[in-house]
Amino acid sequence: LKTQVAIIGAGPAGLMLSHLLHLAGIRSVVLDRRSREQIETTIRAGVLEQNTVDLMVETGVGERLKCQGFNHHGFEFRFGGEGRRIDLYNLTGGRSVTVYPQHEVLKDLIAARLAAGGEIVFEAADAQILDIGQAPRVRFMAPDGALCELAADFIAGCDGSYGPSREAMPAGEREDYQRIYPFGWFGILAEAPPSSDELIYARHDRGFALISTRSPGVQRMYFQCDPAENPDDWSEDRIWAELQARVSGNGFRLKEGRIFQKGVVPMRSYVRQPMQSGRLFIAGDAAHTVPPTGAKGLNLAVADVFVLSRALERFYTAGTADGLEAYSATALRRIWRAQHFSWWMTSMLHRFADASEFDRRRQVAELDMVTSSPAAARTIAENYVGLPLH
Ligand code: FAD
Ligand code: DHB
Repeated sequence: LKTQVAIIGAGPAGLMLSHLLHLAGIRSVVLDRRSREQIETTIRAGVLEQNTVDLMVETGVGERLKCQGFNHHGFEFRFGGEGRRIDLYNLTGGRSVTVYPQHEVLKDLIAARLAAGGEIVFEAADAQILDIGQAPRVRFMAPDGALCELAADFIAGCDGSYGPSREAMPAGEREDYQRIYPFGWFGILAEAPPSSDELIYARHDRGFALISTRSPGVQRMYFQCDPAENPDDWSEDRIWAELQARVSGNGFRLKEGRIFQKGVVPMRSYVRQPMQSGRLFIAGDAAHTVPPTGAKGLNLAVADVFVLSRALERFYTAGTADGLEAYSATALRRIWRAQHFSWWMTSMLHRFADASEFDRRRQVAELDMVTSSPAAARTIAENYVGLPLH
């Protein structure tokens, strides 16, 4: 097998890269160890930045998003028993976010790639990067058990936090930066009507809570928990009591319903740099993790591959590698900004076990500032809707 760009991973990064490359006339093959069904049903992120929405619409994969996504012009910070709105739209000159689940984005990208004759190998086992120098190659086992070798000009490692790409970079050339938070998020999906028109990010002495949505009949909610928490220890009643304790008040109460999905995600910040070694380029979660509080994970993955696709396009059309050489530095600038924002949102809203009363009051003062100073609110809004892609 031979192609121009071998892409490992059919998540948002890998599929969007393959789609953008196709539009630029560049061939790619995408490998993923999961089945199409698993990829299309795994519940993850939900908030798309304006940039991600614009890119999907401009590149022809935004039809369902335009019909089924929910455009949000603001969100609410809740603390001290009251809600205060961040007016994203007016604070950013008309930008906003759209709630549209990650697996729906993946369905749209997979459908577009397959309709255009693109090649995605699902259930590709044991992917192994054989060379990232002069003859880039990936070996994998096809679903029928055949051992295959895919040769390419470049390898794009879009294989998430636990894939082989990150490890294929020589140990002496790489740096890792990490922060592990001593808490996780307990996430649920519930059959219930929306409790609010907009997302709610709540700070409470019991811990953080987030009220999001999926559709008029399905709501997505999270609350801060111990990262080792076992979801089975939490009955529906216990979950609702915890959520109500953190967000209700001043006449506001969550509308409850049957909980049909629950799980715990750990929280960390991580950056691998540089994001290139030889002819291997890493993008998305393969290169970084953000805590989900800023809703940046998926959006950063898309921003990375936007930069990478342009650099590859320049290589193939103008014959110059300057874009590829600049890829890591260009992507990292945005990544570190997103790291800062995600850390900021996380530290403003979560309960830290070692926090003193002074720390808690300072945290409330910070929320007061970002919801009452137009300058501070604008800083939150600009980062939340996403910094421009170019
Ligand atoms: P991924 O989506 O992880 O895709 C990587 C792909 O590579 C996967 O399909 C995987 O099967 C494949 N792969 C891995 N190893 C191999 C291999 N050896 N061979 C072949 N293929 C391989 N972000 C938010 O902003 N908000 C959230 O609420 C949120 N919730 C999350 C919940 C969970 C459980 C997780 C794990 C992440 C969450 N994120 C969230 C982060 C967001 O989903 C990610 O940032 C986003 O998926 C990154 O896209 P990606 O394409 O880089 O990686
Ligand atoms: C969702 C997830 C997030 O991490 C976030 O900040 C906002 C919304 C969600 O899943 O809907």
